[in-house]
Amino acid sequence: NKGKYEHYMQKEIHEQPESLTTTMRGRLMRGGSCKAKTVLLGGLKDHLKTIRRSRRIVFIGCGTSYNAALAARPILEELSGVPVTMEIASDLVDRQGPIYREDTAVFVSQSGETADTLLALAYALENGALCVGITNTVGSAIARRTHCGVHINAGCEIGVASTKAYTSQIVVMAMLALAIGDDTMSSQLRREAIVDGLFDLPNKVREALKLDQEMEDLAKLLIAEQSLLVFGRGYNYATALEGALKVKEVALMHSEGILAGEMKHGPLALVDENLPIIVIATHDACFSKQQSVIQQLHARKGRLIVICSKGDAALVCPSGSCRVIEVPQVEDCLQPVVNIIPLQLLAYHLTVLRGYNVDQPRNLAKSVTTE
Ligand code: UD1
Ligand code: M6R
Repeated sequence: NKGKYEHYMQKEIHEQPESLTTTMRGRLMRGGSCKAKTVLLGGLKDHLKTIRRSRRIVFIGCGTSYNAALAARPILEELSGVPVTMEIASDLVDRQGPIYREDTAVFVSQSGETADTLLALAYALENGALCVGITNTVGSAIARRTHCGVHINAGCEIGVASTKAYTSQIVVMAMLALAIGDDTMSSQLRREAIVDGLFDLPNKVREALKLDQEMEDLAKLLIAEQSLLVFGRGYNYATALEGALKVKEVALMHSEGILAGEMKHGPLALVDENLPIIVIATHDACFSKQQSVIQQLHARKGRLIVICSKGDAALVCPSGSCRVIEVPQVEDCLQPVVNIIPLQLLAYHLTVLRGYNVDQPRNLAKSVTTE
């Protein structure tokens, strides 16, 4: 049931304040006595010790689920102190890459039925790793075959383009980082700030959704483009990949997410006065580096669209010549949840304006059950 919406993707984008609330329900604690601000992930509580002692945490997934894990990687590294590596499921299987008994392998999948991810899971089980699932589907193959895990509880997602599952996956993995880091005194203030940020996140997402009209206007400008680049770094490298994936899979426009630190190692050659470029430059530890990326793209007459924190327009675009999209600022590790909203809206409007099928993009299936 699409309710007042025309498409499932549109509905699922707009229901994110509610889906995120459901994801966190019963799992975040604030108040009380000793453990004032903390998280409780019922499915993991008996396994946290093993995870903390593991030699490595390996995230494994495909498409949007992989991107969500990439978005959560920095905070997991920071709070767990355990090295965190990333694997695209098919690539791990192709390489028969090393997975050991001392590893924690985390399988991220909205459907819980993706063939590539299931093959990687079988492989990791054979190799003796602790296998943790993060899925939206109770009773799915991933949920059943992993040793333990967390349901993201985002509600049924129907649009082939994953939107609300992405933001709920990031939130669950941020909560996973909090749970693993829970025994570390030195990060307590940081963890409490993140818990506060999580409580307020649905409101901030609601605020970001007000960019709907602005993103429709931007889509009108980009409707006939052949290509769109998205630059991000740090916490928002994943946002660049995921924004580009959305544009490519539903709007059927070539789009590439680029790690801004790699700009001079190739992508800069593409920059001219015609190619539209979105730069994600919200306020975090990488901000000044992104400011200089913007300057360099500007010096090459790049057609820039900058996503920045509220009030930063003059800082990111002193010349006034770029289009600026301001988003509410949240705790740095949660910023990807807010920043993807305008890009989801852009992909949606581009698709409608270009006349393509929003919920069933050509050649794609919601659940990819073959290799
Ligand atoms: C569980 C209940 C929830 C109830 C809550 C009350 C289920 C599905 N969830 O939620 O209805 O309100 O207790 O305390 O009954 N698991 C995996 N792999 C996965 C995902 C999950 O093995 O990929 C396992 C978990 O380790 C856990 C179980 O499935 O044993 C349920 O996981 P989850 O729903 O996340 O647990 P709770 O949030 O505690
Ligand atoms: O169900 P899963 O999360 O395992 O699916 C993984 C990918 O197939 C999926 O995210 C795909 O990339 C989406 N169509 C992206 O919107």
